[in-house]
Amino acid sequence: MNIAHRGASGYAPENTFAAYFLALKMKADYLEIDVQMSRDGELVLIHDKTVERTTDGNGLVSEKTLHELKELDAGGWFSGEFKNERIPTLPEVFATFRTKVGFLIELKYPSLYPGIEEKLARTLESFRLAESDKIIVQSFDEKAVQRIKKRLPKISVGVLVKYNIWGISSAKLKDISAYATYVNPNRRLITKKLVKRIHKNGMKVTPYAVYRKKTIQSFYNLGVDGIICDYPDLVAENQKAR
Ligand code: G3P
Ligand code: CA
Repeated sequence: MNIAHRGASGYAPENTFAAYFLALKMKADYLEIDVQMSRDGELVLIHDKTVERTTDGNGLVSEKTLHELKELDAGGWFSGEFKNERIPTLPEVFATFRTKVGFLIELKYPSLYPGIEEKLARTLESFRLAESDKIIVQSFDEKAVQRIKKRLPKISVGVLVKYNIWGISSAKLKDISAYATYVNPNRRLITKKLVKRIHKNGMKVTPYAVYRKKTIQSFYNLGVDGIICDYPDLVAENQKAR
C-alpha cells in the first residue's frame, strides 16, 4: 500500500486539497489524514494542536470555530504557489475523494476532543463508509482506537507506535491484536524481526514517516505491508519496479 502522509506533503502543504490531489496523481492508494475538532464540533484536518506552523494564524485548533479556521491561509507557509489553501473538513474531503482513494484516518490528540470517535463514526456512516475496506482508523491513543472498533466493528483499526528504545513487547503486540488489524510504528523501530512478530500476531505493518528511496526498498524487502510516505511518487516507482 502506497499511503500518502498528510497527502503528498513533500511537495505541497500537508493536509490540504493541493496535497491530496497531488497524492492521487502520484498513484497513492490511501491518504493519511490528521483529524481534530473545531470549537463548534466540526472535524477538521490539521496535524498540530495549534495553527501556527501550518497557517498564518495562531492559537489552539480546539478554541476556534470552523469559520475562524476557514479564514486561515493553510498553504502560504509552504510556498507562494499554495497561498489561500484552506484547512479542509473531513466531509469535504470524503465528498471529493471517497470513490477515488482509501483513507488512513488518524485521530490526533483524541483526549482533547471528547466525543470525536462518535462524530467520526457518524461521518463515516453518512458517507456510507462505515463498512468500507478502504477505511483504516489509527491513533497513538489505544483507548480511542478501541472505542472506534467497538462502535464500528467492520472498520479496520491500527495502533501507532512512537520511537522508543525498548521496541514493542510481545505482551503489547498480543494486546493490540485483540482488536487491531495494523501496527504502525515509527520507521526507526522497523527490523526484520519486528515485521515477523507483527505478522505472527496476525496483523499488518505500515511504518510511518519514510522519506528516502533506499528506505522504501529496504522496508519492502523486510516484508512491510505498506509505507506511509511524504513522497508517494517514490513508493509508486518502487511498486512498479517490483
Ligand atoms: O500515519 C502516522 C503518522 O502520521 C504519525 O505521526 O506526527 O506524522 O501524525 P504524525
Ligand atoms: Ca498523522
